[in-house]
Amino acid sequence: MMADNQRIAVCPGSFDPVTLGHVDIIQRAAAVFDRVIVLVSINPTKEPMFSPEERVEMIKTVTKNLPNVEVEASGGLLADFVRSRGATAIVKGLRAVSDFEYEFQMALANKKLCPEAETIFLITRSENMYLSSSMVKQIAYFGGDISDFVPAEIKERIAARLTSLSADSITNEGVEN
Ligand code: PNS
Repeated sequence: MMADNQRIAVCPGSFDPVTLGHVDIIQRAAAVFDRVIVLVSINPTKEPMFSPEERVEMIKTVTKNLPNVEVEASGGLLADFVRSRGATAIVKGLRAVSDFEYEFQMALANKKLCPEAETIFLITRSENMYLSSSMVKQIAYFGGDISDFVPAEIKERIAARLTSLSADSITNEGVEN
């Protein structure tokens, strides 16, 4: 049974697929909050490569050593999910100034929709500044080594999927995340 006064954070994203940059943000959020719910959410501007179930499964695999981290998927508004779970924070990673405007807009919209939650940005580690799911997909597609970018437990799974895809599905992807 969870205590009523626990601090719950939601870590939302596309996670298509989860990268070492995401894992770092999740770990750091888990060190600050009592409970962290990683939420695989729909970004309407992106065509995902992995199904929500696959993404949830991969995140569960790479966070199994973090007892206060749970993973879910949702097809609705982030603000509604945050409220439904009694969370007080939305935690996101920020890599560069180029992320800022997009994140700033989402944070303001979420504040309007769910005033009881704060969006908190964790600045990425410098070694993950350039890292994105899209970059991982491109490197894997062209047969490059993604070992430095994704957790070892899911590396083969990602590489196997990407090498079997057409170039179109890569170039149509968004560049964020
Ligand atoms: O990893 P991403 O693609 O940058 O994450 C964006 C995401 C999925 C968190 C965002 O698109 C989102 O919250 N989608 C859920 C629907 C929603 O609430 N949209 C309004 C956000 S202001």
